[in-house]
Amino acid sequence: MEVLSITGGQRLFGTVRVTGAKNSVLKLMAAALLAQGTTTLTEVPDILDVEIMAELLRRLGCEVDHDGPARRVSITVPEILAHRADYDLVRRMRASICVLGPLLARCGAADVALPGGDNIGSRGLDMHIAGLKKLGAEVTNQHGYLIASTQQRLTGASIWLDFPSVGATETILMAAVTANGVTVIDNAAREPEIVDICQMLINMGASIDGAGTSTLTIEGVEQLEPVAHCTVSDRIVAGTWAVAAAMTQGDVTVLNANPAHLEAALDKLVSAGAQVSHVAGGFRVIMDNRPLAVDVVTLPYPGFPTDLQPQFIALNAIASGAALVTENLFEARFRFVQELARLGADVRTDGHHALVRGRSHLSGAPVEATDIRAGAGLVLAGLVADGITSIYGVSHIDRGYADLVPALRELGAQVERIEAESLFT
Ligand code: UD1
Repeated sequence: MEVLSITGGQRLFGTVRVTGAKNSVLKLMAAALLAQGTTTLTEVPDILDVEIMAELLRRLGCEVDHDGPARRVSITVPEILAHRADYDLVRRMRASICVLGPLLARCGAADVALPGGDNIGSRGLDMHIAGLKKLGAEVTNQHGYLIASTQQRLTGASIWLDFPSVGATETILMAAVTANGVTVIDNAAREPEIVDICQMLINMGASIDGAGTSTLTIEGVEQLEPVAHCTVSDRIVAGTWAVAAAMTQGDVTVLNANPAHLEAALDKLVSAGAQVSHVAGGFRVIMDNRPLAVDVVTLPYPGFPTDLQPQFIALNAIASGAALVTENLFEARFRFVQELARLGADVRTDGHHALVRGRSHLSGAPVEATDIRAGAGLVLAGLVADGITSIYGVSHIDRGYADLVPALRELGAQVERIEAESLFT
C-alpha cells in the first residue's frame, strides 16, 4: 500500500497542464458502443478508471487499445455486442452504469450490475430507469442487476427530469440518439461534459439540439458512424490547481483549461483575495495573502461544482474568517472533514451545512482519503500544514488525478509516494 507524504509550507509556482476530463471520457468510451467500427479518443487521462472502462468494453466484445502516455484510446466495436456488465467491474467503478443507454440502443438489451451507493452518498438511478421506460424499454431489477430490454426500436418521448442529473441525462441521451422519432429531455444537465458527449454524438451523425441548455431535443437517426474526438479538459482538476495556488499563496498558470467552465469557482477565489487572469489556453492564479473565507453552495452546472467542495473546505480551513459551505448534491460528502480535523481544521457539520472557522495553521498528520475529491482536499491541506502529512487511500486520488506527484513537484511542492510499510520500519 502506498502513502502520499507531503511536507507542507512550499509556495506553488509555475505552469501545469491539464488533460481530458475523467467524467467525460468514460461516457465517450461508452458512446463509442453506438457505432460499429473504430472510434479514437484523445486527451484521455492516464487513470485507472479508463482501464476499468476499457476492460468492460473488451468483455462486451470490443477491441480496446489504451495508450496511457500518448493519452489515447481506440475502441473497435463489432457488429454484435454482448450486453452484460458484471458486478466485479461495476463495483470498482460506478460510472460503468453509463453503458446502459448505448447497450439498450445497440442490442435491444442491457444487463448492468447495480452499483449501489459509495463514499459520497446513496446515488439513485430512478431517473435513468424512468427515462428508459418512457422510451419504451422494460426495466426490472433482478438479482442485483438492472435488466433493460425492448422488443423493437426505442421510441422518442418527452422526458422531464426531477433534477438535472448528469448521469440520467447521459443515459437517456445515448438511448435516444437512435430511437424512432423525437425525444425531448427537459431540465437536462448542462455540464461541459454533457456538451462534450453531445458534440461527439453529433459528429457521429446524431441530431441533437440544445447542448448546454436545459432542453435537449434529439431526433433519432438509423445509424451512427465512428469518429475521432478530443476529450474536453478536466475543469475539476484545473479548479483543484487553482485552489492549490490560492492556498499556498502561489502563482500557478493552468494550461489546456477553459476558465469559462469554472466561472463559479474562480469567482470565489477572487472573493478569497486571489488575482485570476485569462491566458492563452488557460488561466493564471496569483495569491499574495492568506485567503479570506468564502461561503460556497454546491449546485448543478453552472453553479458551484460539488466536486470542488472538499477543496474549498480545505481553503476555508486556513482562511481568515469563517465560511458556511452548503452541499446540495451528495449527502455523505462531508465525511472527509473528520480527516481534515486530524490536521487541526475547525469544521462543524449539520446536515448539508458545514461551518468552517479558519485557522492560521494546520499541522501535518496521517489521514485517509475516502474518495477522489476528499483526497484532493486533503492533499491541498497537506501542502500548507506544518510538518508531514501522510495520506492513505492514494488509490482514490489516482482515480481522478493522473501524474499528481510529478506535477506537484514541478511546481515546487515537497511530496513523494512511499510504501506504507516503510513508515513503520
Ligand atoms: C456525476 C459525476 C460526479 C459529479 C456529479 C455532479 C461522473 C462519473 N460523475 O455523477 O463526479 O459530482 O455528476 O456533478 O460523471 N440522482 C438520483 N436519481 C437518479 C440520478 C441521480 O437521485 O436517477 C441523484 C444522485 O444521488 C445525486 C444527484 O442526483 O444526489 C446528482 O447526481 P448526478 O448528477 O446524476 O451525478 P452522477 O452522474 O452520479
